[in-house]
Amino acid sequence: GLPFLPHEKWTVNFKTAPLFWFSQPGEEDLPLDPNGMVKPSDTNFLDTWEAMEDLVIKGLVKDIGVSNFNHEQLERLLNKPDLKIKPVTNQIECHPYHTQKNLISFCKARDVSVTAYRPLGGSREGTDLLNNPTIQRIAKHYGKSCAQILIRFQIQRNLIVIPKSTNPNRIQENIQVFDFELTEDHMDEIMSLDRHLRLVTFPT
Ligand SMILES: NC(=O)c1ccc[n+]([C@@H]2O[C@H](COP(=O)([O-])OP(=O)(O)OC[C@H]3O[C@@H](n4cnc5c(N)ncnc54)[C@H](OP(=O)(O)O)[C@@H]3O)[C@@H](O)[C@H]2O)c1
Repeated sequence: GLPFLPHEKWTVNFKTAPLFWFSQPGEEDLPLDPNGMVKPSDTNFLDTWEAMEDLVIKGLVKDIGVSNFNHEQLERLLNKPDLKIKPVTNQIECHPYHTQKNLISFCKARDVSVTAYRPLGGSREGTDLLNNPTIQRIAKHYGKSCAQILIRFQIQRNLIVIPKSTNPNRIQENIQVFDFELTEDHMDEIMSLDRHLRLVTFPT
């Protein structure tokens, strides 16, 4: 697996907690204060990054990346004076309702790949992305499922895409995306569905 440095607020002290993303037994992943807000960490994520670089140097992991970093946070990391290893990827929420055009351009310009999470819009009850009429029409045109269109869309944007399914048939379906190509017009049409809608939110 690729170790990720999540958003600054979630960073725990790497020196005391060897696993920086998952909490220790008995601890919460995202500890909340009495008002239900996530308790920010006072660890500087640049220090955490150094500890992660050590994992690569020791040969314990191959690559390291970040998740949910905005362009300012990424810039801060990339401008770290003694940066030894660049993040290979920034894993961010990305789907037609939140296309992340600007952040993706920034990542590409800085040679950081982008991993699109929640590409199908998540839980099927939560959002209508898989039932969006435009996606449905395009799916019909190619004889593909809506999920396959949503995955292919990200592949054609040169993104890494990580759909999740617990169903073996749907896992199979989600990999069958290399035998067709969306036209530029269809790509533009899907891009135009953007409404800057963030589906993954955390109490802050
Ligand atoms: N870094 C972060 O902060 C962060 C945050 C959120 C998610 N992620 C990661 O992103 C990955 C995917 O995100 P996600 O699970 O939130 O959202 P997602 O992949 O967009 O959606 C998963 C949902 O889509 C359904 N589904 C999957 N394939 C389908 C298909 N072919 N047809 C119809 N429904 C389908 C799944 O149901 P079934 O299981 O019933 O098929 C599940 O309810 C996960 O690995 C997750 O860990 C990362």
